[in-house]
Amino acid sequence: MNILVTGGAGFIGSHTAVALHEAGFTPVIIDNFTNSAPSALDGLEKILGFRPAFYENNCDDAALLRHIFEKEQIGGVIHFAAYKAVGESMAHPLKYYRNNLGSLLTLLEVMLEKQVPNLIFSSSCTVYGQPDQLPVTEDSPVKPAESVYGNTKQICEEILRDTIAAKNPLKITSLRYFNPIGAHPSALIGELPLGVPSNLVPFVTQTAAGIRNSLTVFGGDYPTPDGTCIRDYIHVMDLAEAHVAALQQLVKTNDSSFYEVYNVGTGNGNSVLEVIHAFDAISGQEKLPFVIGARRPGDVVAVYADAQKVTAGLGWNAKRSLEEALRDAWNWQKTLRQA
Ligand code: UD1
Repeated sequence: MNILVTGGAGFIGSHTAVALHEAGFTPVIIDNFTNSAPSALDGLEKILGFRPAFYENNCDDAALLRHIFEKEQIGGVIHFAAYKAVGESMAHPLKYYRNNLGSLLTLLEVMLEKQVPNLIFSSSCTVYGQPDQLPVTEDSPVKPAESVYGNTKQICEEILRDTIAAKNPLKITSLRYFNPIGAHPSALIGELPLGVPSNLVPFVTQTAAGIRNSLTVFGGDYPTPDGTCIRDYIHVMDLAEAHVAALQQLVKTNDSSFYEVYNVGTGNGNSVLEVIHAFDAISGQEKLPFVIGARRPGDVVAVYADAQKVTAGLGWNAKRSLEEALRDAWNWQKTLRQA
C-alpha cells in the first residue's frame, strides 16, 4: 500500500518513511522544505535503496493532493506537515492557524472526495499542559493550550473528532508524541534544526560538537528530585514504528468511521540533568559545559506517558533506551560535522 507522508523530509517523517518501508508499505513524500532539507531524501535513498516519490509543495494544495492520490494510488496518509515552534507561534498566530488548520482541512476534504480511508495525525503531549497526575493517560483532561502551536494541535484533534462524529467514511488515529530524540542508527538521517536549536538534545549535541559554547539548563529550582524539568524522551525510530502499528490497525479495522487517540511515549521520565549525564557517559568526550539558567516561560514541570493504552491497543512499546537515542543523536551530529 502506498502511503502519503506529508512533511516526510522532516525529522519524524523521514524516520517513519523508513519504518513504513520495513513493514512493506511504500512511502510517497510531500514536503515544502520549510523546516527540512533535500539532503533527508538523499539519506532516505541510501537507507531504502530507492528514492521515494517526492512532491515539493505545501500540502494545502487540493489540486496537487487530488493528483497525488490518483497517480500514486494512495491508500493512507500520515500527516506530519505543520509548524511547531512554540515561540514563533506566539509571535505569528495567524501564520500558525492558517498553516496547521488549513492543511488538515484541505487534506480531509480531498481524502473524503477521493475515498482515501486511513489517516494518522501528529499530535502532541502538549495538549495535556501540566497534568494533575503522572503518568498521563489519554483520559487526562486536555488543558487550555499554553501556546498557539499547542492550540493548533488541540483544534486539529477536535476537527478530527467532529469529522468522525458525523460518520464520515474515514479511519483516523491521533498520536500524542512525547519528546522524540535520536536518529536512524545509520546516521544517514536525523534532526536538522534551523538556526539555534530550541529543543534540548540538538542543543546538547551541537554543544558537544563545539558549535555552541555552553548549554543553558532552563531552571534548576523546579519541584523535582534534582530541580530540573522531567520529560519522556522517546527514540524517533520507536515513534516511527508506532505510526506503522497505528496504520496497520486502521487498515485492519472493519469500522468505516473510526477515531482513536494514543499516547506515544516510553512511560519513563528523565530530568534535564539526567539527560546531560547520560550524554556524558555515551559520548566519551569531556563533560558537556552547562549552566543552570532561568526557567523558560511555558515549560511544564514534568510530563511522561502512561503507555498502557498504546501497548494494549497496538501491541507497540518503546524498545530503545535513552542511552541508545543519545548515542544515535551524537553519531548523527558527528556526521553533520564532517559534511
Ligand atoms: C517542546 C514544546 C512542545 C513541542 C516539542 C517538540 C515547549 C514549551 N514545548 O517540548 O510543545 O511539542 O518541543 O518540538 O516549547 N531545555 C533546556 N535547555 C535547552 C533546551 C531545553 O534546559 O536549551 C529543557 C526544557 O526546559 C525542557 C526539556 O529541556 O525541560 C525539553 O525541552 P524541549 O526539547 O524544548 O522539549 P519540550 O519543551 O518538552
